[in-house]
Amino acid sequence: MCGIIGITSEKPVLSNIISSLKKLEYRGYDSAGIATFSDNFIDEVKCEGRVAKLEKICSKKSLKGIVGIGHVRWATHGIPNETNAHPHSSENVSVVHNGIIENSTILKKVLEKKGYKFKSQTDTEVITVLLTENLKKHKLLIAVQKTLEKLHGSYALAILFKNNQDLIVGARRGSPLAVGYGHHENFLGSDSYALKSMTNKISYLDDGDICMVKKDQVEFYNSKGKKINKKILTLSENIDDYEKGDFQTFMQKEIFEQPSTAKSCINEYVDNLRDEINIYNFPWELKSIESIILIGCGTAYHACMMAKYWLEELTSINVTIDIASEFRYKKNKFNKNNLYIFISQSGETADTFAALELCKKNKMKTLSIVNAVESSIARNSDFILPIHCGSEIGVASTKAFIGQMLVVYILALKISYLRKDISKKDYELKIKTLKKLPNLLKNTLNVESEIEEIASVFANAKGSMFLGRGFAYPIAMEGALKLKELCYVHAEGYPAGEMKHGPLALIEDGIPVVVLAPRDKYYEKTLSNMQEVISRGAKVLLISNKSKDEISSENVWKKIDVEKTSDELLPFLLTLPLQMLALHAAKNKGYDIDKPRNLAKSVTVE
Ligand code: F6R
Repeated sequence: MCGIIGITSEKPVLSNIISSLKKLEYRGYDSAGIATFSDNFIDEVKCEGRVAKLEKICSKKSLKGIVGIGHVRWATHGIPNETNAHPHSSENVSVVHNGIIENSTILKKVLEKKGYKFKSQTDTEVITVLLTENLKKHKLLIAVQKTLEKLHGSYALAILFKNNQDLIVGARRGSPLAVGYGHHENFLGSDSYALKSMTNKISYLDDGDICMVKKDQVEFYNSKGKKINKKILTLSENIDDYEKGDFQTFMQKEIFEQPSTAKSCINEYVDNLRDEINIYNFPWELKSIESIILIGCGTAYHACMMAKYWLEELTSINVTIDIASEFRYKKNKFNKNNLYIFISQSGETADTFAALELCKKNKMKTLSIVNAVESSIARNSDFILPIHCGSEIGVASTKAFIGQMLVVYILALKISYLRKDISKKDYELKIKTLKKLPNLLKNTLNVESEIEEIASVFANAKGSMFLGRGFAYPIAMEGALKLKELCYVHAEGYPAGEMKHGPLALIEDGIPVVVLAPRDKYYEKTLSNMQEVISRGAKVLLISNKSKDEISSENVWKKIDVEKTSDELLPFLLTLPLQMLALHAAKNKGYDIDKPRNLAKSVTVE
């Protein structure tokens, strides 16, 4: 989960590399670097920290090269510092890398025995040294192929060669890489977002592909070394996604966009005139599906949890869920009547992609719920259901979570109706209620000022807990994850009814606890669980939904009500105050909200 960019042009590339790196910063931001060619010399600038710092350093040097590569790093091997920052260069080549070379220690030892010296602690430098050695014996393309053959693990690479000064070589295995086409200039980038300001014509590399990018020509080779042609895609324009508008952060903008992104998603799948869901070309006979297995990571996994609750409530299908990094290595019972659903905003998450590949290898039915429709997961699934929420730039996932939940809810409703698990009347009523959701989300955003007032208590706490039961439990998990990742305080999501089996020990005087107690069938039970923590000193923020009757529970510290809707749709509304809580707690601490520490938008390493 680093970001890479390469540009070969007829004019100096420095400023475009810097602005692309700024866009790629969501993928990693602990160090940055750039290399360009000028006067037969590789100019390299690297630093620990952000692209803004790199830009400052570059402004004091004159990097006039018309071909160059750049990198933003999310450290895996070796601490973030200048030496470990990419590019890693030898006298002949300069390499930027996204991924992990799993056998780097073994390769390094072999190369050291041959007399090669290593400057950094990174796995990437092994590629540089290996390629430098192979170039002594082989022509360029063969040398690259021979180098890649030796690597275990994942990579997206952009490589400059001292003796081919208008060329950038790209290669992909397990980490995303795209080629962009311009006028007398061509590009390589980790994603289309980095390339979008320079071109809207792109091709994606598949695993095993190598590309040779020159300013007026691009060639592709597949894993067997055969020259191949690639489809050129035209990217759609949606400039608004890339601007913060009146908001201070992308995260806040994306939270406030949710009523409209939910509307777009509903409009894609729900008939405007009739109360009907349209999922066209669904490739399988629903009656034949015995089990659904949902797989994801982080926030996307919480959407899987939500899906399980809904599918179990609405359908007679067996449902299991798995965290992708667990699923990919455990023994799974593959069955031809299983449907595997992969949820991923980026569509590039390495663990989720590996889980998908495993299912494909076992000839399973695969469906992905993604935001990035050109992503690896989308392109490799049998069927995709996009979430239609536009680009999500803030590293912490917000509007994509709402989109993922919407698509799984819509799918659950459709499956339930087609399998006759619910009546036509219920089906239509649920769709009618769903159509009102965007407005309810909009009204629920009004709780922001109340949340803002209390966020500092969570920001300054030693730890906190988020409790919920039933449909509210996955949301409690998601609320805790948001607070952890943005505010760096311990936060634990827990089923409220499970507290008495141990975790009540964590409750001490003044600890802030969020209790999600919507007025659903668990309401009374959750309030009792809430009293258990209050009586042990917890400061409870109770989040419920508006209702005619007052909550009679005593000693609640603060209470916030979201709008009123059906039990099934309440999870959407409960999500908003929790997103805002994390945002304002992080703001209170002065943390970088769009780029929280140790996290990247697209986790393309294991
Ligand atoms: C949390 C967050 C991560 C991602 C996870 C999966 O805010 O953003 O937990 O949800 O890395 O990412 P995708 O959905 O791209 O597969």
